[in-house]
Amino acid sequence: MPATIQMYGPSGTHIPPPSPSNQQKAHHNGSDPSAICAKLVTVNRGRREAVILKLNKPATIGRNPRCDYVVAGTFVSGVHCTLSAVRSPNGGVIVSCQDSSRNGIRLNGHRINKTVVILMHGDSLEIPDSLTFTCQHIWKDLHEKVELFDPEHPTQSARTMTVGKYLVTNQKLGSGSFATVHLAFDTSHTNCRQVACKTIRTKKECDKRQIFKEISILNRLEHPNINRIYDTEQNDEFMFIFLQLCTGGDLFTYIIAYAEKESRLCEAEAKFIMYQLLIGLLYLHSKMISHRDLKPENILLHVPGPYPRIVIADFGLARPRAYQETLNVCGTVSYLPPEGILALDQEHLKYVGMPSDCWSAGVILYVMLWYDIHILKTLSFTTVQWRSSFRRRVDI
Ligand SMILES: Nc1ncnc2c1ncn2[C@@H]1O[C@H](COP(=O)(O)OP(=O)(O)O)[C@@H](O)[C@H]1O
Ligand SMILES: [Mg+2]
Repeated sequence: MPATIQMYGPSGTHIPPPSPSNQQKAHHNGSDPSAICAKLVTVNRGRREAVILKLNKPATIGRNPRCDYVVAGTFVSGVHCTLSAVRSPNGGVIVSCQDSSRNGIRLNGHRINKTVVILMHGDSLEIPDSLTFTCQHIWKDLHEKVELFDPEHPTQSARTMTVGKYLVTNQKLGSGSFATVHLAFDTSHTNCRQVACKTIRTKKECDKRQIFKEISILNRLEHPNINRIYDTEQNDEFMFIFLQLCTGGDLFTYIIAYAEKESRLCEAEAKFIMYQLLIGLLYLHSKMISHRDLKPENILLHVPGPYPRIVIADFGLARPRAYQETLNVCGTVSYLPPEGILALDQEHLKYVGMPSDCWSAGVILYVMLWYDIHILKTLSFTTVQWRSSFRRRVDI
């Protein structure tokens, strides 16, 4: 086997293998958005080759000579599939593959057709009757929370954990103040459908009550711009919510990616995202439910790429009968309306959830169109502080 790998990138040109210093940089924090964050390695006619992936720069594989990696074969479509990499909230990478072929692809032996799947480190991606690629993540999550995969579960392999009919993997999709979200597989579903598994540690009975409230609200909702719930499971330590998988990361990470390139969302894209957000909110409010924690971290991109379809997620602080006034202010301080901020200090003051959501949506629009990367990161930091301190005040 040759010592060097031939690299193919989104530009369609050959790319020299990264120098050791570049590789090291990517390993350490993935701070350089132009660095290689993942690759798909294959052996083509005895030669080791790789399709390289950079953040937010899709690479195509197919028969068409304009594809970034050209594959021959009667079963190969013009553009067979498109690979994308977005940053995971913990500094790692989420690699996804969108199949657009006639004959589909095989992910670890399971047939995938006309859908988007996430590729974990070590996964194999097969183009029927053609090449097989192995996915390698070069950027790894920095602060891996290991609770779910710790030695307390000696029967579980390090890579997966069985929860009911689901296989929860150690590929982290994100984490918030309360939950960690991992990629999971529904083994009862044809071709092991990929889903998102939101795991929340339940220390106290009130934790459980709060989560049951989130589940019951989600069960009432069905809308293209609202994250769909599939199922739930629980054990002594954790509650698991299985959700529709979003492969494009969250809006916060999407905005940050623009900011890192010293650019920003264009008005038309912000308008498109805002339109969907308001449609989702209109639906939610028609059911008299308020979200009460709208912010870019809780808005997900259904698939990667520009002009994304968005879904509203994280109903952990949502509330039914949202037209009623409440004394319990909750949410993230930077996105609260003035009456919410006032009510923080003066406990006799009340506020209403539904108009509060509209204010938060306005702040999101502002953040999309005007932001400073440093301010944005501070906003999310203060979020964590406020949310955890307000958890006790959330009305059940
Ligand atoms: N359905 C999903 N698909 C993909 N990623 C998700 C999904 N739900 C949540 N995430 C990721 O996990 C993060 C935390 O989930 P969230 O529900 O907001 O938890 P918390 O209540 O702790 O804030 C989100 O910001 C997002 O990055
Ligand atoms: Mg959240």
